[in-house]
Amino acid sequence: MEIKELIQKMTLHQKIGQLTQYNARVFLNDDSVITGPDKKLKLTDEDLATVGSVLNSFSADDMKKIQNQHLAGDPLKIPIIFMLDVIHGYRTIYPIPLGMACSFEAEITEQCARMAAAEAAASGVQVTFAPMVDYVKDARWGRVMESGGEEPLLTGYMAAAQIRGFHGDDLTGDSSIATCVKHFAAYGAAEAGRDYNMAECSERELRQFYLPAFKAAIDAGAEMVMPAFEALNGVPATINPFLHNVLRREWGFDKVVISDYNAIGELLKHGVAADEKDAALQAFSSECDMEMCSASYFHCLEELVREGAVSEEQIDRAVERVLRLKEKLGLFEDPYHGADGKKAEALYLCEKHRELAKRAATKAAVLLKNDGVLPFEENIGSVALIGPFADEHAIKGFWSCAGRDEETVTVRQGVEALLGKNKVRFARGCGYTWNDEDRSGFDEAVRIAKSADAVILCLGEPQNYSGEGNCRTDIGLPGVQEELARLVAEANPNTAAIIFNGRPLALTGLDRHISAILDMWFPGTEGGNAAAELLFGRAVPSGKLAMSFPRSSGQCPVYYNHTGTARPHWTTEAESRGYASDYIDCGNLPLYSFGHGLSYTEFEYIEMTLSADTLAEGGELTVNIRIKNAGKFAADEVVQLYMRDPVASVVRPVQQLVAFKKTGLAPGEEKTVSFTLTPESFVFYDTAGRLTHEKGKIILMTGCPDHYYYKEEIELL
Ligand code: BGC
Repeated sequence: MEIKELIQKMTLHQKIGQLTQYNARVFLNDDSVITGPDKKLKLTDEDLATVGSVLNSFSADDMKKIQNQHLAGDPLKIPIIFMLDVIHGYRTIYPIPLGMACSFEAEITEQCARMAAAEAAASGVQVTFAPMVDYVKDARWGRVMESGGEEPLLTGYMAAAQIRGFHGDDLTGDSSIATCVKHFAAYGAAEAGRDYNMAECSERELRQFYLPAFKAAIDAGAEMVMPAFEALNGVPATINPFLHNVLRREWGFDKVVISDYNAIGELLKHGVAADEKDAALQAFSSECDMEMCSASYFHCLEELVREGAVSEEQIDRAVERVLRLKEKLGLFEDPYHGADGKKAEALYLCEKHRELAKRAATKAAVLLKNDGVLPFEENIGSVALIGPFADEHAIKGFWSCAGRDEETVTVRQGVEALLGKNKVRFARGCGYTWNDEDRSGFDEAVRIAKSADAVILCLGEPQNYSGEGNCRTDIGLPGVQEELARLVAEANPNTAAIIFNGRPLALTGLDRHISAILDMWFPGTEGGNAAAELLFGRAVPSGKLAMSFPRSSGQCPVYYNHTGTARPHWTTEAESRGYASDYIDCGNLPLYSFGHGLSYTEFEYIEMTLSADTLAEGGELTVNIRIKNAGKFAADEVVQLYMRDPVASVVRPVQQLVAFKKTGLAPGEEKTVSFTLTPESFVFYDTAGRLTHEKGKIILMTGCPDHYYYKEEIELL
């Protein structure tokens, strides 16, 4: 039946049902009595029979049970659509999104999303609440782990790759799921890095930094948008008129918008809605089509229609968007969307998926420091594995869906598999929570460090210290880990540290004591195997930071694309010159900047040449960067091109990534990496909110913010 015809056949109550989403547990209650936290929703059996969408169903069986029950009672046979946060894998978990962003690689990201989609779809999931594309610059915020980091261009690039992977060639396919880009917008601007906190952001800042990745995701075909929780410039994102206008009018997004969890209910808590009816009216008038886990639409929309505050045409438009998505997924033909428990079990953690997860984890890792310690030789006599993360399964990361800690490979398992058990000694040394000051394991750790040929020190923050609601004020290594590191490195200088983290950590102390630091992020199911391959040179690190690492927590937010000041001060040292924009006790530069990441091989940047020194309207400029692998390992390099606009009508960032390319080189190989730029490559928002580029000098730089090899000037005509 044609969608429009179907809508005509629906009662108003049935239509409103299509605009609501509740937890699977509401439906799986055997005695059909809603209990616990869901009781306060005050849903009637009639409401439940018309609900259009369900979240948090984790198995094909549960999905089918809910779907069958629903279809049996629905005379119109409109299937429920099932959604879930499939963020970095379903059962086979790959690195957290912030780690994946460090790969700077669309291919592996797309493959991983494809794998997650296949496992999720077989398990009864039809839409994922991903990608998360929030621009982030404050590492205290726990949700940076879900993001693509501090560069909108990179975030948009990774988001598009994820969308391609989740969607596949055809959304009706039984290994495809649709995407919902979130959280629109500026959730990452939460004041003080505290989750759900208000954000104040100028329109220029929003357009320049916060919105582009959303646009990129929508252009890549994202099927839904989720507004953010926070109040942006005084108005919660769910009902924010500026955001509404950009999304629906400027960008013409005509697909489904779904509220975040209870976000419509929380309009009362924000103090912008007098009661539930007011909240429903404001949210619905802002074209928030679907309400997640609060019940104001059910309770109030009918009355609002009767009173004429909402028209039935408005309701029909929202319902049509929801039904079109169901149609696109082929749910009217197959309400299970190919879900099959047996197929899912065969996919979970299968060899192919584990192999991909491992490869992704090797590509996400970033070698932060290496004074020649890494890689270790495989024929090494003995290795001491020390630290609270050395034998820890809980390294797959937050938001890992149906992933299980016990199925995650520990570093110890990975290293033992590679070297043989007899070569490996282990001591935990200490704990990793912020208040664990137990030093009783230090002696044992030092003892085995002394007697081993090399030490692998496994440190970090627990995986539940990042993710939603998990913010920190002190983003150093929790507890006494740094002390352990110092003692162990003194006992054996041939020590490398590997770090597990959901955010950039302040590692200044560690950097002082340890010769090599490899950041694994939360690497997912195959973390331990990936770490072993990287530590022993079977894989070569190629990740580059997608987010800067501060020197201390108090430096946050510290990010590479900040604007300049009239009183700049650029040293890594704490040596305030007075009356400069700096600190008395810490330098301005991050410890490791965006774009930083070492390799086991050496890349020589031979030259950077430009096809012209001017660029006119409609013209093109080619930038050629010639590089050589001058070391001994075949490896990948991310060639990065930055710009600086030294004179403009508004203060511009001190540096900004304009293009990048990842390429592999054999030892001794030379390659030229080319970028084509146009005047549009240099656009920015002016004071009138116009996207523009201005005549004058532009500086182009290659390398990374830590160190540029070449700088060249061009004139925009
Ligand atoms: C989060 C969203 C998520 C939703 C559903 C919320 O708490 O902010 O990112 O998609 O829950 O699980």
